[in-house]
Formats: sequence, C-alpha cells, structure tokens
Amino acid sequence: MCGIVGYVGHSAGRVNTGHNALDVVLEGLRRLEYRGYDSAGIAVVADGTISSRKKSGKLNNLIAELEASPLPESVTGIGHTRWATHGGPTDQNAHPHLADDGKLALIHNGIIENFAELKLDLLGKGVEFRSETDTEVAAALLGDIYRNQLHGDHSTGGLTKAMQLACQRLEGAFTLLAVHADQPDVVVAARRNSPLVVGLGEGENFLGSDVSGFIDYTRRAVELGQDQIVTITADSVEITDFYGAPAEGKEYKVDWDPASAEKGGFPSFMEKEIHDQPDAVLQTLLGRSDIHGRLTLDELRIDPELLKSVDKIIVLACGTSAYAGQVAKYAIERWCRIPTEVELSHEFRYRDPIVDENTLIVSISQSGETMDTLMAVRYAKEQGAKTVSICNTNGSTIPRESDAVLYTHAGPEIAVASTKAFLAQITAAYLLGLYLAQLRGNKFQGEIKDILADLGKIPAKIQQILDNEGQIKELGAAMADAKSVLFLGRHVGFPVAMEGALKLKELAYIHAEGFAAGELKHGPIALIEEGQPVFVVVPSPRGRDSLHAKVVSNIQEVRARGAKTIVIAEEGDEAVQAYAEHVFYIPETPTLLAPLLSTVPLQIFALALASAKGYDVDQPRNLAKSVTVE
Ligand code: G6P
Repeated sequence: MCGIVGYVGHSAGRVNTGHNALDVVLEGLRRLEYRGYDSAGIAVVADGTISSRKKSGKLNNLIAELEASPLPESVTGIGHTRWATHGGPTDQNAHPHLADDGKLALIHNGIIENFAELKLDLLGKGVEFRSETDTEVAAALLGDIYRNQLHGDHSTGGLTKAMQLACQRLEGAFTLLAVHADQPDVVVAARRNSPLVVGLGEGENFLGSDVSGFIDYTRRAVELGQDQIVTITADSVEITDFYGAPAEGKEYKVDWDPASAEKGGFPSFMEKEIHDQPDAVLQTLLGRSDIHGRLTLDELRIDPELLKSVDKIIVLACGTSAYAGQVAKYAIERWCRIPTEVELSHEFRYRDPIVDENTLIVSISQSGETMDTLMAVRYAKEQGAKTVSICNTNGSTIPRESDAVLYTHAGPEIAVASTKAFLAQITAAYLLGLYLAQLRGNKFQGEIKDILADLGKIPAKIQQILDNEGQIKELGAAMADAKSVLFLGRHVGFPVAMEGALKLKELAYIHAEGFAAGELKHGPIALIEEGQPVFVVVPSPRGRDSLHAKVVSNIQEVRARGAKTIVIAEEGDEAVQAYAEHVFYIPETPTLLAPLLSTVPLQIFALALASAKGYDVDQPRNLAKSVTVE
C-alpha cells in the first residue's frame, strides 16, 4: 500500500530528456493510485530549495492544488499516494514530510515500529512535529543525522550516508525516498520489507513501488534486495546495503504494455478487467503443456524428487486470493490425493503450524507484496518447507523469496477489487495440481490431457457469459437499495459464494455473506425474512447429481421463508427454474472447473449494483490493492 515515485533527469542544456519531474511523478502516481488514495503529495528540488504540495483525498485534489499553486520546473522529484496507517487522511499527515528546516523531503510506505522511541529522542533535541505520522519521525531522524552527525556534508554523498545511518536505527517495514535541497541531482531510497523498483532510462532514472510508476518512460527495471539503499542521479544508479557495502540489483525487462493498464474504452478498470478474463485465463494456460498434454512447468525449478516427497500442501493467501486457494484445495486433493489446507496468511504463523521439509507451501498473491503472506512464507521456509508462489507481478517480493514461482499472466490489475487475477490464480493452481498429479503418477496422462482440454475451452465460455451480461447488470442496478445479500454455495461453489459476497462488500458497502449451503440450517437460515435476496451457486446436475439435488432443496428452504432467490446454474438445468426469481445460466463445464465461470456473473452483479449507487468501483473506500503492512 502507498504508491511511491522518484525521478531524476538532466536539466536543460545537458542531455535534456525534455521531462519535467512534476509530470513524470504525477503520471507515476496516477498509475500507482490503486495502492492507496487517502491523500497524495509531491516534492521537487529547484533553485536550491524544496517545494512541495500535498492534499488529502484522491490524486485529483492534489492536481487541483497544483493548478492553483504551481510548482517550479524541476528535474528531481518524489511523489506519494497514501493509504493511512499512522494518523488519519488529512493534509497534515499526507507525505512528503519535511525536515532539516524544510531542506529535506521524505516519503514512506510501511510502518516504522520504533517511531515512538525515536520521536521521544528527537523531541528531546527540540524537534517539532506537525503530523501524527511515523513518517515525519523518519524524516526528522534523517534530517538530524544529515545536519548534526554529518554536518550537512554533501560532497561525499551525504544524503546516502545519512539514509544508511537512519536505516540502521529504523525498525519495521519501509520504503523511503528522500530529496535534499543541497543535493538537487539526487534521489536516495531505501527498502526493508516493502516494495521498490528502479527504472533505467537514458539520461534519467526512476523509482517506483512497482514498474507501473515509470512504465510510460522505460521498460528496463532493476529489482532491489532487502535492506538496500539506492541512490539515483540522471546517469547513475548505485546500490549499497544499510552499512554502505556495495550491492547489486537484478535487471529485467518489463513485458507488459502500458496500454494494458488503461481502461480500453470501459468506464472503469474493474469493468475492463472483468472483460479481460478470457484472455487472463488463456495467457495463464499458454505455453505450459505440450501437444501430448504433458505439463511443462519448467519455471517451477524445484527438484521433482522433492515434489514427489511432499505429504502435505498448505495454501497461504489473503482476501480474494485466499478464495482462489479454497477452490484450488478441491482440485489438488482430488487430482493429487495430497492433504491440502488453506489458511489465511495472517493466522498461519501465529498458531505454531505443523510444517516440515515435506510440506509444500503454495502462496497465492496478485501483488506479490502482501506483507501477511510474505511473512507467512518466510516462516514456512524457516521450518524447512518448499515454497511455490502463484503471483501476477513479475519481480515482486514473494516470488523472489520463494523456491519457485508460477506466474499468472493476467496482466496488470488496477481496480482494487480483484477479478481477473482471481480467475488466473485458480487457473494456475489447477496447472500446479495437474503437474503434481503427473509427477506423482496420480493421474493417467490421458486424463490430464482431457482436463487441460476442458481448461482450454474456458476462455470462450467466459466470453459467452460476458456477451450476455445485460440481464445480470440490470438486476444489479435494480437492486441498488438492497441492504443485505446472502450467497450460498456448495463444494467449489462455496468459495465462489464467499467471493461473490466479498465483491459486494468491497464495492457496494452493503452487508453480504457467503455460506456453505449445507450450513444454512445450522444457523444462517435465521437471517432469512421476507424479500431477503439470496444468490445460490448451483452445481451441475450432471455427475454429482446428489449435490445438485441437495442445493435445490436448500433453495426451496430459503424460498419457503420468504427469500428472493437468484440462481447461477448450468445451461440446461431446468429443475432450478421453479424455485428461482432469476436464473443466470453458465455454460456446461466439469464441476471442478466451474468456479472459472460461476464467479463471473457475481462480479458483474457487484459492479452493476455499486455503479448504480454511484460509487467508485476502482477505488472503494478504505481499501488498498497492495497491503504491505501486517
Ligand atoms: C487486498 C486487496 C484484495 C486482495 C488482497 C490480497 O485486500 O484489496 O483485492 O485480494 O489484498 O492481495 P494479493 O495481492 O496478495 O493477492
């Protein structure tokens, strides 16, 4: 959470790129706003001084402020878009925070855990604080070190040295970016357990929380390791550890197009991303099997012998990704016969879980930066487990720290509420499950080939649902006044029901709950009263027909008590019609793969209902896309 951008270019008269720091930083913030949107701020160095503006609310408020009160032309700048942790989303608490008599500006993503102790120390030295943030404490510390310990000596990289000394005293998670009026050609940054990437340009260099912070200018990026400091000028990028020892970053090429992070004619990123789903699934499948239906997950790079000895799988994830994990559990256990648990990352490491070298940890994270998941993966590694990351963000921290990665190729997901990443995660988890089944001989090659063929048909089936989205959109819009919506599902339909409820909570801010349909009579049925809308995800009547019959009974039970039932069922399932106010049909598909289809109408419903209420579906209140604090 929090988006961070830094830029240094050449001033006019040298290798002038023609870029103004303000424009570059604002463009980066626009692309990173999904990371937090409580407030935004920017600082540039020009004419030997720091000029900064900051404003609570979305980036547009800052842009309006900049129009009313423009910043000077500059080639060195930093910018921040905030998701509040310490201190509410006010102008005062917005970043940048200034220190050293206004000559130093600092922005921060993360939490400084020992800020109270540092603040006491600085108060004792007469420092005055204007905000409630931990960031201002870090700024004051950096300013104090630069001024009083290094005596403002900028001839030998004073700001870099000050950053090293400051980081040695900071505890917690942080990405910090600083500029100083005395060193107008430099941005210095540090990272510990919080994301930061360098962008390499020609006569200009960039910093960003992720590559979207500079994707309009360069595709060359450098990954930084933990506890590193990077100093960028227009022509150089120097990396050290917190003690000044030189360090190296790893350069890579960004393979997505900036256009893929635009709305493409849709009114919101979310709607566009829902429509990207056929391609997200397709891209995630592509190149991962040969014509004989053999999975070729070369990128997994874990010794096959080790994978054969796995006796337990634990899937770790948060939010929507955890529901993808729950879907994966059904498939992996069925195909591989390996006991599979799914656990919320933040619950996992605090309960002394049983993990050893025969445990395979599968973390699922769109961003690859979710702190709870990262910490859980680290914990599992310490216990000797093998770790595989299913991730959508190239070069992010969780895949880098895992033994292996299976990237989802959904493309950049900008809307805060996850849609296409969810379907891509489920797809990748299926591939992993089939790969393990292949390796361990749990399934015949022909069976794997058949499942892959069924998976291959999914993109067209999702498209079919999208082509007929009108009816569900209308229902969503017509239900804008609903106070509560319940979702029921069974087997793989259970996590789908929970995901449907989560989408509605996130986007429309109404009470929504997903239940296992079988659990209904053990409590939730008490919630049913006249007119209560209930979505029911009905399993296919083919094959596991007993389950189908049971869910149809569940529909009758809630209907008998006054519920308004909205049913997602497979094409041809006429049995449900008698009990449903509305039925939305999805194409036929094997039961285990059905979540890739049944989720889609629920996403469209939440989008339509929230849009009808006039809410911002891309940036729902209080949320952030990438939660980089525990
Ligand atoms: C946040 C987002 C959710 C997301 C969850 C996990 O809460 O708002 O949309 O599902 O984080 O994120 P990850 O990047 O780890 O998948």
